[in-house]
Amino acid sequence: MLIHVNQENSQFHLTNGQISYIFHVMKNGQLGHLYYGKALRHREDFSHLQTYDVPTGATTHLYADDPAFGLETLRQEYPAYGNSDFREPAISVSKTTANHIPNFIYDSYQLVEGKQRLEGLPATYTEDNHDASTLQIILKDEFLEAELHLNYTIFRDKPVITRSAALINKGTEGLIIDRLMGASLDLPDKDFVFTHLAGTWSRERHVKERNLETGIQSISSLRGASSHHHNPFLALKRPEATEHTGEVFGFNFIYSSNFLMQIEVDHYDMARLTVGIHPFGFKWNLQPQATFQTPEVVMVYSNQGLNGMSQAFHALYREHLIQARWKKAVRPILINNWEATYFDFDEEKLVKIAKSASELGIELLVLDDGWFGKRNDDTSSLGDWHVDLKKLPNGLESLSGKIAETGMKFGLWFEPEMISPNSELFTEHPDWAVGLPGQHYTLGRNQLVLDFSRQEIVDYLYEKMSAIIKQANLSYIKWDMNRNITEAFSQKLAVDQQGEFFHRYILGVYRLYDRLTTEFPHVLFESCAGGGGRFDPGMLYYAPQGWTSDDTDAIERLKIQYGTSFAYPLYSMGSHVSAVPNHQTLRQAPLQTRANTAYFGTFGYELDPLTLTAEERAEIKEQVAFYKQHRGLMRDGQFYRCLSPFLNNETAWMVVSQDQSEALVGWYKVLATPNPRKHQTLRLSGLDEAKMYKVSGSERTFYGDELMTVGLPLPTEFNGCNGESAERGGDFQSYVFYLKSIEAN
Ligand code: GLA
Repeated sequence: MLIHVNQENSQFHLTNGQISYIFHVMKNGQLGHLYYGKALRHREDFSHLQTYDVPTGATTHLYADDPAFGLETLRQEYPAYGNSDFREPAISVSKTTANHIPNFIYDSYQLVEGKQRLEGLPATYTEDNHDASTLQIILKDEFLEAELHLNYTIFRDKPVITRSAALINKGTEGLIIDRLMGASLDLPDKDFVFTHLAGTWSRERHVKERNLETGIQSISSLRGASSHHHNPFLALKRPEATEHTGEVFGFNFIYSSNFLMQIEVDHYDMARLTVGIHPFGFKWNLQPQATFQTPEVVMVYSNQGLNGMSQAFHALYREHLIQARWKKAVRPILINNWEATYFDFDEEKLVKIAKSASELGIELLVLDDGWFGKRNDDTSSLGDWHVDLKKLPNGLESLSGKIAETGMKFGLWFEPEMISPNSELFTEHPDWAVGLPGQHYTLGRNQLVLDFSRQEIVDYLYEKMSAIIKQANLSYIKWDMNRNITEAFSQKLAVDQQGEFFHRYILGVYRLYDRLTTEFPHVLFESCAGGGGRFDPGMLYYAPQGWTSDDTDAIERLKIQYGTSFAYPLYSMGSHVSAVPNHQTLRQAPLQTRANTAYFGTFGYELDPLTLTAEERAEIKEQVAFYKQHRGLMRDGQFYRCLSPFLNNETAWMVVSQDQSEALVGWYKVLATPNPRKHQTLRLSGLDEAKMYKVSGSERTFYGDELMTVGLPLPTEFNGCNGESAERGGDFQSYVFYLKSIEAN
């Protein structure tokens, strides 16, 4: 058990030797926070960690005889607003008939070995109870006749705690929840750099940093998806922390819809973090005996900088989030026809692509958008999930059979949550679209959204998709979601229930994912939302890989993949080699550089193999063989970021096997430098200091410590005069080096 409980002084200490999380019951019966960070040695009493502020005239206090006890200055676990705490709370709940300030008083606790799953929600899990311990704190509000359960799980060998909350209506009257956050954390100071991932379509998850300042700062989504614009990830980095050293607190929210991650820095420089479903527009009617369970917040502590934080997220997601059957499964190298054909294809063309790709060693063909209804462009047919016999007169079964004959597996694109206004489905069921009858329906990419808060609609999609999976013998599905939700109303919900819409919608999405992935465990799902518009840990639970971005440009991908790696493992990032000029930027990067970027993810191609030259085909064959040789390393290895594309003209990263016997290093230079540095080296990370490594492409060998302190020598760059001896030059250069340890002499 990784949790110490001291019943006498009502203190709880979660620790695994790497981290400590300590809280207690305060004298008003609510929970007070004492410490979170690097592990502290356990002691029977930690009450000295609670410091009372010297009262001043302006502060409020709960007791006449104890002017220092005011919630305004005390650190709390799950605060409410109304009696002396003026910051934004974790909970706001009331009865329909009477006024009341939430007052959840500690009642009891429960310890569980391992971790329970969260009903209807994606969450981290344990297969072996030994891997984690869970503490559940039960608090009661007598007046509301409600229980609040706060769940804390600490993982045994990871600097990770996960948290969630559940509210249970034990009474006979309905409750209204206005806000129920996954977690709240009061940090004693504000000396942090607020680090997050922001962007938009085609440039998702760029790293942004700013110092914490007095007042409220937040990232959020109100789009019905976690969004391209803000990922539900946040790191609080000490100003002196670097990529590999210093303290970083990382947070990620396992949820795919509206979220809020907020820091409120108060007048004493305390920083309150709140993470949860965005309270704006949210209002949940909690019926008698019903439970509302929040999604889960992941909290990582690192004293090895940002990279240490990322490695903890990666290990957690690899072992305890991605579905068990995909943890060790090899993911196929795929070719997607989107950028090759867009909507313009037929069976013959697709079979030719499959045959040609199969000869290159590629393993799976994904038929993207346009195979159903009358979909020749993006203005029609979403919802009409039957094959377009004009394009594919022999149907999907025949196509799938012919693709199988080429030795390839077959996958299909779906956009299950959408409906085109001119579809047969819309004609039949106009009320199935999300919207407010009588008011204008806003279009996004010419389409409307299906009301996934309704079970009959989820069931309908299940029937359609499962029939096609069977009929076309699918091995893979790309599940897309190409617009955000406007006019967020369901025609099935009562007026006073519309505040439940967004959450009910995403629960419907999760239900469909759950049913399909349970019934068809062999089908690999790749999540997508106009590229990376829903790249979050909620999706990762169901779909072990996600399309990182619609931007397939190798140079843009450096930033996108670098940022994404802050929280998400390499093997979750769909990354493909596409044609030049690139369709998003018109950039012309060499084929080698395009592959060198795409290797660091789940690899594939997004081009027409029929238009390749013989040289290009030969090169691609080698790339495919190279990735096959190393994909186990991409899946299981430790990832290290070496040079940031946000700070440099060069980017570098590497992945090292767990036993440190091999590594792949990616190095990229965006623009050429005239008369460049001589004898340039790249300092590596994560190797065994005492191991001797041989570097691919040369006979030279280096000890790990040499590679990490002196660095790996880079090939000589063209400098205007060394034409003969220059090994590299020009814009968009790159190398991938393979390091293999050899027995030292
Ligand atoms: C979205 C996806 C693309 C492609 C198109 C098809 O934009 O992100 O990869 O599937 O839809 O319409």
